[in-house]
Amino acid sequence: MESLKGLILSGGKGTRLRPITHTSAKQLVPVANKPVLFYGIEAMAEAGIEEVGIIIAPETGPEIEQAAGDGSRFGVRITYIVQDEPLGLAHAVLTAEDFLGEHPFVMYLGDNLLQGGIADLVAAFREHSPDALILLTPVPDPENFGVAELAPAPPGEVGRVVRLVEKPSEPATDLALVGVYMFTSHIHAAARAIQPSPRGELEITDAIQHVVDSGLRVEPHIVRGWWKDTGRLEDMLEANRLILDNLVGSQEGELIDSRVDGRVAIAAGARLERTTVRGPAVIGAGAQLKDCYIGPYTAIGEGCTVSDAEVEHSILLAGSSVCDLDGRMESSLLGRNVTVRRGERQPKAYRFMVGDNSDISIL
Ligand code: G1P
Repeated sequence: MESLKGLILSGGKGTRLRPITHTSAKQLVPVANKPVLFYGIEAMAEAGIEEVGIIIAPETGPEIEQAAGDGSRFGVRITYIVQDEPLGLAHAVLTAEDFLGEHPFVMYLGDNLLQGGIADLVAAFREHSPDALILLTPVPDPENFGVAELAPAPPGEVGRVVRLVEKPSEPATDLALVGVYMFTSHIHAAARAIQPSPRGELEITDAIQHVVDSGLRVEPHIVRGWWKDTGRLEDMLEANRLILDNLVGSQEGELIDSRVDGRVAIAAGARLERTTVRGPAVIGAGAQLKDCYIGPYTAIGEGCTVSDAEVEHSILLAGSSVCDLDGRMESSLLGRNVTVRRGERQPKAYRFMVGDNSDISIL
């Protein structure tokens, strides 16, 4: 087999993450203080892939290039490929044709998170040499995804792929297509053969159906661990929780009269004074925490300030500050550079979903 390449799709406008973040590409939104895109790049590096193409949009591409660079810090070489318009995932494959050539490749949607990486799947792809390999997982809302119908199979086995439909109004099964795919170069001809869907995009789901219809072998794998499409706001706190569940603690920042219980990662330049942190939690570089309690499943971003406050099960993006709260702030998501501070009257608990650059005084 020719060497395997990687293709990460990092275009699109991220409108589903508004109003939390207007400014950033959705693939750069941090999960446990690391841009979600980096998990995909790391998964590729771990699976032994050296050449990674990243599809970018003209609007957000420069931000992504600046964040991920030439890939050397991940141990891969990154080539950026501009997709002028968001015309679909199969269109993105065609846009990358020069980069991909005849190589087989792993395609990874840049806002997806897959527990346990892709090394085992890449090994199965190499070993069984199917024409394509897809990942499936049962979901409660299959109508929001590509959905697969499989042929009946004996217990313990997975049936062959019969039909794939993009966002069906009446799904035949609850098996959603996960945003990680493995392809041989057959996918190029399939992407050229299909027509745009009702949403005006060349769907990768339709291209894979074309591969099936051509009599080629598409191998389905059922994902056992968790999978998250973080392009949806309601999934961000959960993604944060799932990643923090596997956090390894580390301590580079400074602790003054402070206490850390459980697994907590404190980045360089962070300063904790008279503060208790109960993990799993991450505290970003340069964050200043004073007289506060940080509870489990919290990610405090770079340069945040928290003082006289309790924060739990929340995400604070870079530069935000929470000061002088009487009750506890929980299950909240603060965009970049948000300020939350106390006014006169105090409720016992707060829950916020607040977009970039907001300033909130509680009265
Ligand atoms: C895309 C695919 C869909 C897949 C999903 C996974 O949907 O079209 O088949 O199930 O990613 O995240 P989109 O995010 O473009 O709506």
